[in-house]
Amino acid sequence: MADPIEAAGPFILLIAQRVNSSAHDRRDWATVSCRRADFKVGRPMSKRVAVIGAGPSGLTAVKELLEEGHQPTCFERKPGIGGVFRFDERDGVVWDSCRLTSSGLLTAFSDFPVTHEQQEHMPARSYVSYLQRYCDHFGLNDRIQFNTTVESVTRDAESGWTVRTVASTGARHEEHYDAVAICSGLHQHPHLPAFPGQERFTGTIMHGSQYRRPAQVTGKRVLVVGAGESGGDIVEEIAHAAVETVLSLRRGVAVLPRKIGGVPNDYYTTRLQYSTAHWVFQTKNPKDRWRRAIYVALSWIVLLPFKLLETLFGGLGWLIRRGVFVPFQRPERRQKTLGRIRMGMYLRRLLDESGGTGWEQFATKTENFVRAIVNGHCRRVGPIAGASPRT
Ligand SMILES: Cc1cc2nc3c(=O)[nH]c(=O)nc-3n(C[C@H](O)[C@H](O)[C@H](O)COP(=O)(O)OP(=O)(O)OC[C@H]3O[C@@H](n4cnc5c(N)ncnc54)[C@H](O)[C@@H]3O)c2cc1C
Ligand SMILES: NC(=O)c1ccc[n+]([C@@H]2O[C@H](COP(=O)([O-])OP(=O)(O)OC[C@H]3O[C@@H](n4cnc5c(N)ncnc54)[C@H](OP(=O)(O)O)[C@@H]3O)[C@@H](O)[C@H]2O)c1
Repeated sequence: MADPIEAAGPFILLIAQRVNSSAHDRRDWATVSCRRADFKVGRPMSKRVAVIGAGPSGLTAVKELLEEGHQPTCFERKPGIGGVFRFDERDGVVWDSCRLTSSGLLTAFSDFPVTHEQQEHMPARSYVSYLQRYCDHFGLNDRIQFNTTVESVTRDAESGWTVRTVASTGARHEEHYDAVAICSGLHQHPHLPAFPGQERFTGTIMHGSQYRRPAQVTGKRVLVVGAGESGGDIVEEIAHAAVETVLSLRRGVAVLPRKIGGVPNDYYTTRLQYSTAHWVFQTKNPKDRWRRAIYVALSWIVLLPFKLLETLFGGLGWLIRRGVFVPFQRPERRQKTLGRIRMGMYLRRLLDESGGTGWEQFATKTENFVRAIVNGHCRRVGPIAGASPRT
């Protein structure tokens, strides 16, 4: 297979994983803790708490602290709320058309539902509006200091923490707090891997977090690396604007289509499904053998009806994928069915190549890139020669 770096031409777009920002941001804060037990209602004193970050986690931390009678101050380095989801032309993470991969229904906080229109996969902008309504409703706005970056947090000799901040004006400030809640996010720092031969490449190299809209790639030949949710979504949009779009994958992908049976895939999430105790599979202790046998036997009683249904629908799916019903359909309907069959077969192929089942790995919760490949808008190639194998 041709080396995609050589084949890409004048433009290259690299989509890669985002580094867990805790490694960067928690440099000096490794020992800072914020346990709920420290804030129990009924404690004699309300505490002063510094909350770092006004993304979804920081906002709900502020709201909970207020409800329990504490005095939170939230520091946010950006000029607005929303964290990752806040669109920013220069310094943002999301692209203009970014849509959530989790449904509004389940992404919303349990005590503040989304509107009816936001229940499916809302645009990131719409989610930020939801968060703004959350702030207005629970009176959080006065608690947030925007354009203020927390530089360090150090433990004080007696108790509590000294929090040092710097405002965008350059003004530095330090203050004592009883506790600190670190809500600085997981997806703030892009990771751009280096590929052998990159120095010979004359086109533009950019990370997915720098992509904003299709106009950036109009008339270019684009190589996208990776089909996580960034690559998986962006590829289809790019494929409609670029002269040629090539997707490089170093392995298969477990794909969970955004919608299954016409509804967001996470509507099928159940506690039953995800509640299998870890020790059942992980324990090496012989004493657990009986407990495990009982657990597995009981699980089967619960799972049996699901397994039967799965086999029934799996069999139907097999027949549908092989087009058994197609000859009996009207032409326009037949085209749709054939399209679905091609998608289904490609999804299956990607899962087989991923070397695991859908349950054993983090799934890409968008099928947009698969549609682009199946419809011939995007060509798939293997890994860049010499690229690091997946660890
Ligand atoms: C493109 C994209 C789409 C995503 N879509 C989904 C989705 O559909 N559903 C889903 O559940 N998850 C999604 N995620 C994952 C998402 O990142 C997290 O679910 C969510 O952002 C977690 O919120 P958070 O508040 O913990 O962190 P963040 O949203 O990252 O917010 C952290 C905030 O802390 C601020 N901050 C950081 N350091 C400092 C500092 N030193 N001083 C002051 N402020 C600071 C940052 O500016 C930021 O505003 C997506 C991620 C990406 C990259
Ligand atoms: N619309 C949305 O809601 C949305 C959009 C974007 C992101 N997100 C969220 O944001 C988080 C990050 O997602 P992401 O897609 O940005 O990153 P990601 O999930 O880490 O995916 C990175 C992709 O790049 C590939 N890759 C990484 N290093 C590579 C290398 N050296 N060589 C070749 N390929 C390499 C990976 O391949 P392997 O698979 O082989 O490792 C993977 O396909 C996730 O939690 C996701 O849910 C959500």
